[in-house]
Amino acid sequence: MSDSIESRLKEERRFPPSAEFSKGARVQSHAAYTSMYELSLSDPETFWREETGDLVFRTPWKKVSEWALPHAKFFVGATLNITESCLDRHLGTSARTRAAIVWEGEPGDVRTLTYFELHREVVRLSAALTDLGVKPGDRVAIYMGMVPETAVAMLACARIGATHSVIFGGFSSDALRERINDCGAKVLLTQDGAWRRGNVVPLKKMADEALEKTPSIEKAVVLRRIGQEKCPVEMKQGRDVWWDELVTRTPSENALGLAKKPAAFDAEHPLFILYTSGSTGKPKGVLHTTAGYLVGAHVTTKYVFDLRESDLYWCTADVGWVTGHSYIVYGPLSCGASCMMYEGAPNAPDWGRFWNIIEKHGVTILYTAPTAIRAFIRAGDQWPAKADLSSLRLLGSVGEPINPEAWTWYHRVVGGGRCPIVDTWWQTETGSIMLTTLPGACYSKPGSTGLPLFGVDIEVVKDRGDPCKANEGGKLVIQRPWPSMARTLYNDDARFKDAYWSQMPGVYFTGDGARRDEDGYFWVVGRIDDVLNVAGHRIGTAEIESALVSHPAVAEAAAVGRPDDLKGQALVVFVTLKQGQDPKDLKSKLAEHIDKEIGKFARPDAIRFTDSLPKTRSGKIMRRLLKEVASGAETKGDTSTLEDLSVLAKLRTDEE
Ligand code: WT7
Repeated sequence: MSDSIESRLKEERRFPPSAEFSKGARVQSHAAYTSMYELSLSDPETFWREETGDLVFRTPWKKVSEWALPHAKFFVGATLNITESCLDRHLGTSARTRAAIVWEGEPGDVRTLTYFELHREVVRLSAALTDLGVKPGDRVAIYMGMVPETAVAMLACARIGATHSVIFGGFSSDALRERINDCGAKVLLTQDGAWRRGNVVPLKKMADEALEKTPSIEKAVVLRRIGQEKCPVEMKQGRDVWWDELVTRTPSENALGLAKKPAAFDAEHPLFILYTSGSTGKPKGVLHTTAGYLVGAHVTTKYVFDLRESDLYWCTADVGWVTGHSYIVYGPLSCGASCMMYEGAPNAPDWGRFWNIIEKHGVTILYTAPTAIRAFIRAGDQWPAKADLSSLRLLGSVGEPINPEAWTWYHRVVGGGRCPIVDTWWQTETGSIMLTTLPGACYSKPGSTGLPLFGVDIEVVKDRGDPCKANEGGKLVIQRPWPSMARTLYNDDARFKDAYWSQMPGVYFTGDGARRDEDGYFWVVGRIDDVLNVAGHRIGTAEIESALVSHPAVAEAAAVGRPDDLKGQALVVFVTLKQGQDPKDLKSKLAEHIDKEIGKFARPDAIRFTDSLPKTRSGKIMRRLLKEVASGAETKGDTSTLEDLSVLAKLRTDEE
């Protein structure tokens, strides 16, 4: 695989949309895109007034934005209940009886919820949460899998103004506890278990362990997904309540009133906290607020996926990550779209599962990640070949750079050569897609993430902030606030300033390196901070290191990434042991320790024991050297500050 930036920059092919695709699209030409983009920057008031027209505001906004960096407000003066844009507004239209969610469980069970039914479920749960004592501004943790109730849970919180924090079901109980305690959640919503590759992930059991030390939690609501026989759970008296029993209780008059005619909240009311990795050991609680986030998710979904009533749109991300928040829940529902949702693994029971789902339900838009595409390539063309994929009309990619080989395969084998591909660059912090090619308007280039979306003033700059020349590598920065921008890090505003706004005055630093070519297309290289992207999962090296050193046998640890054909990056850790510790058997123990501290998805791909780590004279671990050792590359850089060169020679000869 050649996903290096050099090989991607050699990529000169251009794939324009077909005339037929463009003709039916919302934005039909490059010129139309450009004039919208220019208006969004030169006259944001006019642009956003037009684009917010189909969303529901109780009080219209007075001013598009106000900022004193790093803080910004959008749609100032507006009040709204975000769920009215996602649910209520569709009830008076033909969408009322249209599928909002078409869900397939891993065992093959199927459920469809119309907009009417989704609204009803959200109303019931929000009334029940009110009766449990949840109030506007309270935090509610959600530790669930890919079931429709997870979307119901998020929307029910939003409806009563509670701030949700979804914790990906792959996180361990320790990681769950840390996040619950950081945000001080009052209620946890979870489920007995979730299906994953034919096995049950015992979410409730893991939640029980987490809840042993979470003083803020008063109640845990438990959805029955698997059932007592295959997934027995213990219900703690006074704390735990079954979801079905809760929502079938008669709600109080007040709670029902609030659920049916929900309160309106300020545009900047906190909507959700989502934890993500940064360059220190502690996860960052990225905080998004209401109006700006909704507008970002809505407008990007509408234009990037160019949704029509006849579409069945499928974003394969987990709802525990931001992609699930913006492009399974808030974006598509605010557009009245019909969304496919799938519970399980792409290879359960075999590698044909995705193609089978597309054929069976008639999926028209598929949005997935390069790491999945590469896994499908490896599994073989016979799997997609077996299914009828002719319903597809548009494909999307997200999460990491896509190498041209994977792009071409996706285009040819999945898209039958007829579907445009939108490669979308964005982050947990940006809330919505920032860079892509609008599918009816702009040609795509395999490996490039395209052009800026509306309101996105983005640039590649040198260290001091001067713009780079065409094709010159630099830092990717955003030069003015945008509606769906993260507003702060929960309880850590100083870190928000420091992590994103301190590199260069007045600009947001993304943490990514990039180039922009002579056509203005962006080519994202990847993270240039201490954050890895392993199979589309964002992993902080410092988090891995602090998890490792919390093991009694470990003295020091360094985590680095190494290029990987399948995962994009693989996680390699170098570990020094305390005196008298025997490395024998420790590899599997350390791997299990990571499972426990963070979650299985963060398991290192290689653990290498060493007597010492290469350090500068001032004692800093030289990660750059370790990266080279991990990937088997020759040492290129300057090693003059290396404390003891023999350390490096030794590392190279050590076996993995
Ligand atoms: C990082 C953000 C929000 C998307 C899911 C991941 C990388 C994301 C692309 C892309 C190249 C990409 C960046 C970014 N990334 N999309 N299309 N091309 N790189 O969200 O966990 O917050 O990670 O993912 O490095 O900074 P996230």
